[in-house]
Amino acid sequence: MTILVTGATGTVGRQIVAQLVARGERVRALTRNPAAARLPGSVEVAYGDLTAPQSLAPALEGVTGLHLITVAGDDQAALQTGPQLVELAAKAGVTRVSVLSSWDECSVEEALRAGDLGWTQLRCVEFMTNALEWAESIREEGVVRAFGNRPGAVVHEADIAAVAVAALVEEGHAGQAYLVTGPEALTPERRVRVIGEAVGREIRFEELSEAQYRASMEAWGAGEELIEFAVRLGANPPDAASVVLPTVEQVTGRPGRTFAQWASEHAAAFRP
Ligand SMILES: NC(=O)c1ccc[n+]([C@@H]2O[C@H](COP(=O)([O-])OP(=O)(O)OC[C@H]3O[C@@H](n4cnc5c(N)ncnc54)[C@H](OP(=O)(O)O)[C@@H]3O)[C@@H](O)[C@H]2O)c1
Repeated sequence: MTILVTGATGTVGRQIVAQLVARGERVRALTRNPAAARLPGSVEVAYGDLTAPQSLAPALEGVTGLHLITVAGDDQAALQTGPQLVELAAKAGVTRVSVLSSWDECSVEEALRAGDLGWTQLRCVEFMTNALEWAESIREEGVVRAFGNRPGAVVHEADIAAVAVAALVEEGHAGQAYLVTGPEALTPERRVRVIGEAVGREIRFEELSEAQYRASMEAWGAGEELIEFAVRLGANPPDAASVVLPTVEQVTGRPGRTFAQWASEHAAAFRP
């Protein structure tokens, strides 16, 4: 059986690929740019663009398990091609699907709900890895400037992957919608302190006003939609953002990785 991983060059997808390989599964990795994929040698790299569903037909040959992302490109726009992708997967003989949903559902979840493929939905509120956005100002100025300081149950990319892998290779996960969280709800300020401990350096935390935050995102080149989304999230995160759930341990049998672990794994990115 071959498992096709979409988003295989992304933060979560790389972890899914590595964990499937470690379990001895046959993995095919989808990317729009095979030459730049940098994936393990045992992984078959296949070209495909989720916005052009027919381009996936060769990659889906012989595939029984499929991990799907729901974004259409680097701007995080929602995929519109769910019905065609689901139809192609069903035709190819896929029996198990895991889906990493974005904040809002899109045509992918809609098509899966309307069809009869066994699928498992993974939702996460916030990835630990978003803290890499702070790397430059930490390295250069020893400071993090952020908007909003509410606790978030940030989750390690390897734990999201572990839940996806369980859904792809084990029985009993079809029809489940898993909200995957980390083991603690930490404010950004607390996360900054944890990164400081990992790199052995004190890092200041400065809370931005909404106007300052908007200006900083504009300067960084963010589009209007992304700015509105980020402002809404910073000012008024959903209640679910701070709720710690036992999903990782229940599904994988091991506790979720802590932010301290994530910070020590990524400490080099924060060192000058
Ligand atoms: N960051 C968060 O806090 C958070 C929270 C909840 C949910 N999420 C969701 O998690 C997902 C992001 O996962 P990630 O961080 O692992 O990804 P990522 O690191 O941003 O990488 C994006 C991946 O998507 C692939 N991709 C993008 N457009 C594609 C297209 N048209 N056709 C084929 N592949 C395409 C890219 O592949 P190539 O470039 O190689 O083609 C790449 O592997 C998003 O759906 C996001 O909404 C994020």
